[in-house]
Amino acid sequence: MSDSLFPLSDEHRMIRDAARDFARTAIAPIAAQFDESGEFPFETIKKMGEMGFMGIEIPEEYGGAALDTLAYVLAMEEISKVDASHAVIMSVNNSLYCQGILKFGTEEQKQRFLKPVASGTAVGAYSLTEPMSGSDAGTMQSHAERVGDSYVLNGRKSWVTSGPVADYIIVFMMTDREKKQKGISAFLINAKNAPGFQRGKKEPKLGIRASATSELIFEDCRIPSANRLGQEGEGFKIAMTVLDAGRIGIASQALGIAEAAYEASVAYAREREAFGQKIGEFQGTGFKIADMKTRIEASRLLIYDAAMAKENSKKTGERYTLKSSMAKLFASETAMFCAHAAVQIHGGMGYSRELPVERYFRDAKITEIYEGTSEIQRHVISRSELQSG
Ligand code: CAA
Repeated sequence: MSDSLFPLSDEHRMIRDAARDFARTAIAPIAAQFDESGEFPFETIKKMGEMGFMGIEIPEEYGGAALDTLAYVLAMEEISKVDASHAVIMSVNNSLYCQGILKFGTEEQKQRFLKPVASGTAVGAYSLTEPMSGSDAGTMQSHAERVGDSYVLNGRKSWVTSGPVADYIIVFMMTDREKKQKGISAFLINAKNAPGFQRGKKEPKLGIRASATSELIFEDCRIPSANRLGQEGEGFKIAMTVLDAGRIGIASQALGIAEAAYEASVAYAREREAFGQKIGEFQGTGFKIADMKTRIEASRLLIYDAAMAKENSKKTGERYTLKSSMAKLFASETAMFCAHAAVQIHGGMGYSRELPVERYFRDAKITEIYEGTSEIQRHVISRSELQSG
């Protein structure tokens, strides 16, 4: 990466190197085993919290590391290069959970709900999707009714990253169905003691298998009205605002997967021989390597640019939706492209569980689906372009 476009400060290099060292020494040796078993990696996630990776952009007073968005994407990239499961747990914690409370929470909510998650002593989750409402997030069925000084929550949520283990959850529900998107509100749940709340079935997944995903069930779940995040009816805006941040995190995850697939491919192409020469000497392999490298560098530029826009937005309040969607769209399709090429370059060995290449392939796919599918990103980008000017 050329330093001329995005010069990294000593602090940025330090966090990148710390994440790289940690990923190589603590995560790499267990990644395949946790992928196989589908267990949640509690110990390494706890250590990531101790290192400040679970609330990178959150001020120290709320338990975070008080660094910037570029620091966040650099750390995400390094963790993802070794294991996309650890990376998504980290991304949801940082972007979808912590950022939402930092931006929209009251001081009391920040003390109670942000501090433990940003400091990594508790895990946070974000719950928007429902069985019948995915891309069309404004059509959710679950609802919350105000009763005195409480809200009573009912409904079923699905595809919640860290749902089976999260200590705290931001959940979105309808408070006024007539108003559609403007009738959605956000609530903070303490998953350990919310009556009427339970975790539903854990999803058996193709990839990111060490990241636990589940349904959440709310049956007359009563929470104090002080747990409402933002104003009544502000939930959709909160959900979309934090997804803008989340999509930069997933783009960085995709970049890390793409790089891992690329590096494995280069090493294999240099060493494996067929028809009397290294397979990298065949143009068919060389051109794949060229396309992978070019897309990786282009993804990185889009991601760093989106990270800069997000950083700028902290001062100006300007939205960076377009840049975040472009970064996620391009990086996730790059991850899939690179993982696909890596399996092909490795041939039979790319299909074997003996090498991590097949895991990169399984893990890459979800980056084109969660936090807004590639179709939704194209919708957001094209709408923004066609409506402006
Ligand atoms: N920031 C702030 N406000 C936003 C916004 C954003 N990025 N996007 C939209 N809004 C506001 C709009 O300005 C509008 O408000 P006004 O009328 O006051 O202007 C309001 O929200 C409604 O916006 P739209 O008309 O654009 O709403 P829509 O119904 O057409 O939906 C959409 C737009 C982009 C398709 C949106 O529904 C979307 O992003 N869908 C995908 C949902 C998604 O990403 N789900 C993933 C869930 S998380 C996950 O994957 C699981 C996990 O744990 C990782």
